[in-house]
Amino acid sequence: MKSIDILSKDHEDVLKLLERFYESVEQIEDGKGCDRKNVEEILRFFNSDFWLHFDKEEQTIFPELSKFISGSSEPAGPVVAMLDEHRTLRESNEKMQIAYKNFDKDTKKFASEARNFIGLLRQHIKMEEEMLFPMTLRSLDHCLDDKWLEEFAAIDNKAT
Ligand SMILES: [Fe+2]
Repeated sequence: MKSIDILSKDHEDVLKLLERFYESVEQIEDGKGCDRKNVEEILRFFNSDFWLHFDKEEQTIFPELSKFISGSSEPAGPVVAMLDEHRTLRESNEKMQIAYKNFDKDTKKFASEARNFIGLLRQHIKMEEEMLFPMTLRSLDHCLDDKWLEEFAAIDNKAT
């Protein structure tokens, strides 16, 4: 399904970005300082466009998969855990962004929040790639693809 390919490509790009981010966090932890511009660019992304990906999943795959599992679009099966992780990631990002505002006073706090966010997001992507997406491809009607692609476009348009 093209829609799943798009979401997987997002995952791939985000994992690359997280690698760059992780290097900066390690430099901060080692007291070496870091390229602040690079960190700020990454933080801006995690404060904006990144969440469109979550919106896409929450408005397409999650309700359809829940419907397949329980007959209702109320979260069911692994969707419950995935939604919970989305919530945790949103909270973790908030903490990281706040900690960055105090970066000059407390670099360690920022590094620890960023490390936490990176770990959670890597783990979450792994779960979606290894469990949720294969389950979607196995269980759901691939005719949903066109509808989902339209919904993705609508979400992207609303953001611009
Ligand atoms: Fe995802």
